[in-house]
Amino acid sequence: MGNSKLTMKAIAWTKYGAPDVLKIIEIEKPKPKSDEVLIKVHSSTVTAGDVRLRSFNFPAGFWLPSRLVFGLFKPRKIIPGMDISGEIESIGHDVTLFNVGDKVYGTAGMHLGAYAEYICLPEKSALVKKPINVTYQEAVAIPFGGLTAIHFLKNEANINKGQKILINGASGAVGAASVQLAKYLGAEVTGVCSTENIELVKLLGSNHVVDYKKEDITKIGEVYDVILDAVGNLSLHHCRQLLKEHGKLISINTGLLTNLAALFRRNLISGVAGESKEGLEYLRELVESGNMKPVIDKVFPLEETTRAHKYVDKGHKKGNVIISMINNET
Ligand SMILES: NC(=O)c1ccc[n+]([C@@H]2O[C@H](COP(=O)([O-])OP(=O)(O)OC[C@H]3O[C@@H](n4cnc5c(N)ncnc54)[C@H](OP(=O)(O)O)[C@@H]3O)[C@@H](O)[C@H]2O)c1
Repeated sequence: MGNSKLTMKAIAWTKYGAPDVLKIIEIEKPKPKSDEVLIKVHSSTVTAGDVRLRSFNFPAGFWLPSRLVFGLFKPRKIIPGMDISGEIESIGHDVTLFNVGDKVYGTAGMHLGAYAEYICLPEKSALVKKPINVTYQEAVAIPFGGLTAIHFLKNEANINKGQKILINGASGAVGAASVQLAKYLGAEVTGVCSTENIELVKLLGSNHVVDYKKEDITKIGEVYDVILDAVGNLSLHHCRQLLKEHGKLISINTGLLTNLAALFRRNLISGVAGESKEGLEYLRELVESGNMKPVIDKVFPLEETTRAHKYVDKGHKKGNVIISMINNET
């Protein structure tokens, strides 16, 4: 047994609600099953998804299905948190995809449990080796926005060279990844953000920037092949003067009705982004080739996860907010 720790620090919750439902606890360190890896977690994130789940503030129509998945009256899983970067500390007998010491990044997704010093995940999870040219904190800033951008822009809208793309909410986690992916795929990108984020959105590669505090984007007099709305304030009705004849609106922050409507409308894309090893491998290549840069707003130690959630609740983070399990790590 040596001197390895038998317990770990983690954030636990026993009810949905305000950030104060998140408490630091000491709990037994998990052991991997035969098909699982034990990861020493270095970093996690506080995403829009994490705060939605904590406060149970889902778009219309998603309340009941989400409660059935995550726990009807209280959270089924005691430790929240999704994204992770860290190092494999041990592996189950049947694991073939990873070795002890591998530096990995990915997401626990609906499995949750990332707000902890250790997590066990099946080797088949959305988990791969992390990009070698970035730190653990930078690596964990990639999956949430990156996987969403791949799902909607690359897989669903199939955007390609020369197309004109508008990204509404360009300074958030999804927006920052979407601007960079769209640029990489050869699109001409217009990012919509507030005055203070103009420089950031330009740095990410936007060809044009619209300041939503000064201009009404429905009246900018341009037309686009694809509009990705990461804010949730654009409908097809709003976009009728913004879309080309065969243009498409990607609406990622809308209720069940819009999701259903998208099944019947050729100019509307909606739904929920998935996570996969393939997506993470694709993102790793983008990061290693310098085509996607992680955007980090603030870093909080695990003990201050409540404070991190309070910050993200305000709705104005730039890129990503990181939770660090390792003191003084960058
Ligand atoms: N369907 C899916 O699968 C899926 C996947 C991922 C995320 N989402 C959803 O997508 C949304 C965005 O996620 P995120 O991670 O990017 O959130 P985020 O990081 O919190 O970013 C939100 C951004 O929106 C900007 N914003 C607020 N009001 C705006 C406006 N009127 N016009 C333009 N920008 C505005 C904010 O910038 P300022 O500070 O400048 O206002 C902020 O940077 C969330 O609601 C999330 O739940 C859906």
